[in-house]
Amino acid sequence: MKYNDYSGKVAIVTGGAAGIGRAIVDLWTAHGGAVVLTDLDEKAVNAAADELMARGADVLPIALDVNDVDGVQRLIPAALERYSGIDALFSVVGNNSMKTVEEATDEEWRFIIDTNLMSVFRVSKVVIPELRRRGGGSIVNVSSIAGVLAENRCSAYSASKGAVITLTKNMAMDFAKDNIRVNCICPGGTYTPRIRGYMQANPGHEKMMTDLCSLGRMAEPEEIARPALFLVSEDASFITGTAVMVDGGYTAGKHIAMFDEA
Ligand SMILES: NC(=O)c1ccc[n+]([C@@H]2O[C@H](COP(=O)([O-])OP(=O)(O)OC[C@H]3O[C@@H](n4cnc5c(N)ncnc54)[C@H](O)[C@@H]3O)[C@@H](O)[C@H]2O)c1
Repeated sequence: MKYNDYSGKVAIVTGGAAGIGRAIVDLWTAHGGAVVLTDLDEKAVNAAADELMARGADVLPIALDVNDVDGVQRLIPAALERYSGIDALFSVVGNNSMKTVEEATDEEWRFIIDTNLMSVFRVSKVVIPELRRRGGGSIVNVSSIAGVLAENRCSAYSASKGAVITLTKNMAMDFAKDNIRVNCICPGGTYTPRIRGYMQANPGHEKMMTDLCSLGRMAEPEEIARPALFLVSEDASFITGTAVMVDGGYTAGKHIAMFDEA
């Protein structure tokens, strides 16, 4: 599967109805790929599918909460009713909760770990046998800059996103023999509709974020989707077990103001 040509290929996307997941779905289908578009929000899944199908895209919409163990078990049988196999998985779903370890309850922490980390385990577990059956394939997990540089008050988020990076490396090692490559991307602040709404409601907050990033701006969702698609394509055939920072330089280093004047 060459970059920009996914014809005949089938991808599963979790959290595909909005934000970064939706940008991945848009780009994948724009380049000829078929997609199993899954999301918690049933109305949004169906609306996104209708919109894409009106443009001629091949989309199978499935309402799926990645924390629903039985629902995840039903995913592959449902996909195989329509397609002969699966070539790629994009595990995109993630939630944040701004709580320190002291503030968060057990339940709140478990929810974030479940949604961000267990979901990658749970969905990969059912997709890997299908990738193997196809003779190989590719997985891209969505971590975060917070998985590399911890973010204050985001205790469960930072921990879960760091673990997604390590799990990515583990899976890359365990399934290389099956010709399955596993990578992750670590987005920086991205202008998804949800984040755009937050920034508009909280004047000044966007600058607080963009001041931390060398390029001095937020990403558009498509700027995250493009490297994600590159990683699943054959153009990345020798790349596995890596975490690609897509962060406008956010994790490049710390700005030492003293050096500007030295
Ligand atoms: N947006 C950013 O600035 C940013 C930055 C770094 C990392 N990320 C990561 O990128 C990923 C996508 O983020 P986003 O901002 O595009 O997401 P978002 O919050 O906009 O949500 C995208 C979709 O996920 C769905 N979803 C939420 N919980 C779900 C669940 N349990 N099961 C199935 N679907 C569910 C929502 O219904 C929504 O349609 C996440 O893993 C996030 O942590 C985002």
